Amino acid sequence: MKTELIRLSELSEKAFAEAIEKAAEYIRNGELVGIPTETVYGLAGSAYYANAAEKIFSAKGRPSDNPLIVHIAKATDAENIAETTQTYYKLAEKFMPGPLTIILPKKSIIPDTVSGGLNTVAVRCPSHPIARMLIEVSGHPIAAPSANTSGKPSPTTAEHVYTDLCGKIPLILDGGSCSIGLESTVVALNGEDCTILRPGAVTEEMLAEICRSVSVAEAVRSPEKAGNKPLSPGMKYKHYAPNCQVILLDGADEQFISYIRKNAKGKYGILTVEENEDIYPTEAVRLSLGKKEDYAEHCRRLFKLLRRADELELTRLYAKLPPESGLALAYYNRIIRAAGGNVIRIQEEHNK
Ligand code: TXA
Ligand code: MG
Repeated sequence: MKTELIRLSELSEKAFAEAIEKAAEYIRNGELVGIPTETVYGLAGSAYYANAAEKIFSAKGRPSDNPLIVHIAKATDAENIAETTQTYYKLAEKFMPGPLTIILPKKSIIPDTVSGGLNTVAVRCPSHPIARMLIEVSGHPIAAPSANTSGKPSPTTAEHVYTDLCGKIPLILDGGSCSIGLESTVVALNGEDCTILRPGAVTEEMLAEICRSVSVAEAVRSPEKAGNKPLSPGMKYKHYAPNCQVILLDGADEQFISYIRKNAKGKYGILTVEENEDIYPTEAVRLSLGKKEDYAEHCRRLFKLLRRADELELTRLYAKLPPESGLALAYYNRIIRAAGGNVIRIQEEHNK
């Protein structure tokens, strides 16, 4: 299959509308389109068609028991596909459109294939204008996982999607780089209580302003503990991993730097903050996350840098373990998964 990539920013108003209509026609016909959202690029298909979902699983190489998120144009559209609750609407009022996905009991119009056989469905109302336009113009809710090959870092540019899915889908809409860079926060509700299954830009602290209680699923911080019965099927799979080995170090700045000076070998890179770029040995490839403690910027850059590490054919990539609170938790969750759950505690190594 030939894959067309349309750069929307270069188009006249008329050509832009035609491109959206072309994508909408693919969706209505059960075909797939790569689309930008504010979080990451999505691999979009109609959420009404089981065969579109099958195409999604096959193009990504994704296990079919890992359910898809259904994207809607406005919060009340959830009524068509799911059983909503008061808490859903309270959260929707505050965070939709935006990077929040809510798990709700599914209505039968959504095929079981989309929900990976579960009787619940993940609902998200994206804020990205192109994603929203496509849902509205196609007239279909859109099932869209991240548009990467399963297991690879999620795509934050149209080029990333092209690299992973060229030849497998007919069209990619290029809407530039994603402004958030990590996937949406996924929550399950129990009355007024909420559990974070995947952390994102809508943080635990923000949810706590609306919900009676907010808990964080254990697998968010410790992916190895997800076991065989995780709350969210996506938790049990290896994720976000580049080909190179990601080595996550827990320690103060000075310890991190001296560990690298002593131990780093091979063709290696460092995920570093801007302030420390000059400190490392000359052979180290520096991949900058932005300013220290600017976790929004770390989130925005992480997946791009993991892909960059592979382009540069690095064998190892060293990174510092971030804190687990606020927006840093989303970054923490992705980097710890990229490292396969392994963390080296520098202090302990030092004392051995
Ligand atoms: O930001 C995002 O959410 C992006 C963009 C494209 O919207 N989409 C995305 O989809 O990240 P995906 O498929 O890569 O991740 C969906 C996550 C998976 O971990 C999946 O297991 C979980 O949501 N999920 C989906 N439906 C679920 C359900 N009914 N119950 C529990 N977890 C569910
Ligand atoms: Mg994904």
